[in-house]
Amino acid sequence: MRATSQAQPNIALVKYWGKRDAVSNLPAAGSLSLTLDSLWTRMSVKFDESGNADALLVNGEEAPAMLPRVSRCLDDIVGVKRPCAMVSSECNFPIAAGLASSASSFAALVVAASHAFGLESETLEMARSAGRASGSAARSLYAGIVELQLADDAIAVASIAAPRDWPLTVTVAITEKSAKKIGSGPAMNISQQTSPFYKEWISRQAQDLANARAAVESRDFAALAAVTEHNCLKMHSVMWSSRPSLVYWNSATLTCLETVRRLQADGVPAFFTIDAGPQVKIISEPAAAEDVGAALRSTNGVVDVMQSPLGDGARLLGGK
Ligand code: PMV
Repeated sequence: MRATSQAQPNIALVKYWGKRDAVSNLPAAGSLSLTLDSLWTRMSVKFDESGNADALLVNGEEAPAMLPRVSRCLDDIVGVKRPCAMVSSECNFPIAAGLASSASSFAALVVAASHAFGLESETLEMARSAGRASGSAARSLYAGIVELQLADDAIAVASIAAPRDWPLTVTVAITEKSAKKIGSGPAMNISQQTSPFYKEWISRQAQDLANARAAVESRDFAALAAVTEHNCLKMHSVMWSSRPSLVYWNSATLTCLETVRRLQADGVPAFFTIDAGPQVKIISEPAAAEDVGAALRSTNGVVDVMQSPLGDGARLLGGK
């Protein structure tokens, strides 16, 4: 009745920002992402027939605020008539700061809980459970470059390139380590209800996704760079034009964009994306990673830099 898993966060190049409806928690559009390797969440789940409440430890400390979401996810995987669970997670990067910790956490949780309970779930089934907890978590079940498509009443997720098929490096420039003030779930609801650009944003997602998929298929770095930066800035335009406005950036975020533009002007193959937080993620060819890392480390306001190649999907670490 016990299992341990590991999952890595994923960084979306074509983003998901908006839900089809609140009940299903299905995303309003498809997305495309990169699963990382060096940043991870490790999760242990132990079901205990004699326990009387679920318990959650995050990096060794009780995390009551996160517990209801974790319990709901366990109900979704195992059913509501289940033993109580002891859940313990460790994360080697800042949590809830726009670094996709919810993606790696819920991907790891579904794998550990399914195995601990002896379910032989297919990866897609686990991805759907993870996605109901956190839309982006569905993608962390898969390796390398991952596409999430929206079918009639469910998501379909698949890896469209393995890490070795197109080696890329993701450099994360951390400009602020504290947790964000508003989580992406409630924030995207605000955008959906108030941004005058929301409908337009969703209506163009299929085209961006097709362009990104074509760029991946032809390993066209410049085309992937163009659609990624455009998609990111469009999502942030929706956030900025929401009421209240959702501005996750700080001044160092913008300084990092200047660094990326300077690298690009010098011919370095690199492009940026930014999620619901002030951190900047720079995607580059591995040969350029050293230059990209050095440039970001010496950018004003950057407090830390992490680098990662592309990695595997969520997996089991230890058995029962
Ligand atoms: O998975 P959620 O519900 O926390 O939302 C993630 C949203 C973004 O990271 C901003 C975009 C994405 O597609 O990952």
